[in-house]
Amino acid sequence: MLIKKPQGWEIPEREATDESVYLRRRQIIQGLGFLGMEALASQALAAVAPDLYPAERNPKYTLDRPLTPEADATGYNNYYEFTLDKARVKDVARGFNSEPWKVQVKGLVNNPKTYDIDDLVRKFPLEERLYRFRCVETWAMAVPWTGFPISHLIKEVDPKPEAKFMRMVTVNRPAEMPGIESQPHYPWPYFEALEIKEAMNEMALFVTGIYGKPLPPQNGAPIRLITPWKYGLKSIKSIVEIEFTSKRPRTLWNDIGGAEYGWYSNVNPKRPHPRWSQAQDRIIPNGELRPTLMYNGYEEFVRSMYSGREF
Ligand code: MTE
Repeated sequence: MLIKKPQGWEIPEREATDESVYLRRRQIIQGLGFLGMEALASQALAAVAPDLYPAERNPKYTLDRPLTPEADATGYNNYYEFTLDKARVKDVARGFNSEPWKVQVKGLVNNPKTYDIDDLVRKFPLEERLYRFRCVETWAMAVPWTGFPISHLIKEVDPKPEAKFMRMVTVNRPAEMPGIESQPHYPWPYFEALEIKEAMNEMALFVTGIYGKPLPPQNGAPIRLITPWKYGLKSIKSIVEIEFTSKRPRTLWNDIGGAEYGWYSNVNPKRPHPRWSQAQDRIIPNGELRPTLMYNGYEEFVRSMYSGREF
């Protein structure tokens, strides 16, 4: 990813105190009083529909490698609105509040609607799937996600014939997300997009849980995208807006580094990033190297959508 070197006059990220997050957490812990545990406070904040977890695992999707330990998948994160420091995201994001939460679906659809997250999570049956996850930076995990196929929502909102794309936007809360102000060179809020055809693919999920529990803030609570045949940068977190369009929408990483991050960003071991090879996965946490698979090993599910040249 693009990592900007701080200028002398900038406060290094890790020295900036995320005071508002800290103070809010204190208030909540005081409010909880009798519980008095920070861990419980953060869980209470993040949990949407906890009674729905764990959801039943769909046995169709199997792995060729061990599952990543939960502590690594929830402790080594990319979520730049909080911090660029992967190991600190969970701490900086701890007080992030995902209730109440609304997801607005708009644009070229016959049934535009703003969903309350609790209604949305209960609307379609949740299932657990084990998927490989590959970041454009080469690190890779294997994660049990809980969610529902995006196709279910698309059928519900019923796109008009001229709609070809689905654009998604992350919540914009500078007061809770200190990275938004400490990294003003990124065009916040985070935005991503898929072709509707891609979003209709059976592998494409809206994810609301991980390891049999509701998503914690660092993994994109309360709802995020997972398209396991694409690099992780496509899997936008904490979605508040979904828009159906006829024109191809811009996407954040493609906008700021088009030569490095393709609009499709399909995993392709034969197409190196300008500064590193994409031929190997570096497995988290042990650093084992494994050959990167075309479409991250999901070729049988997605090949028919592509000519093989999409970047
Ligand atoms: N979504 C938002 N809003 N902000 C981000 O910085 N990072 C992306 C993606 N979604 C990102 C995001 C990148 S680069 C990756 S690799 C994955 O989230 C990481 O997901 P994880 O932390 O759950 O492993």
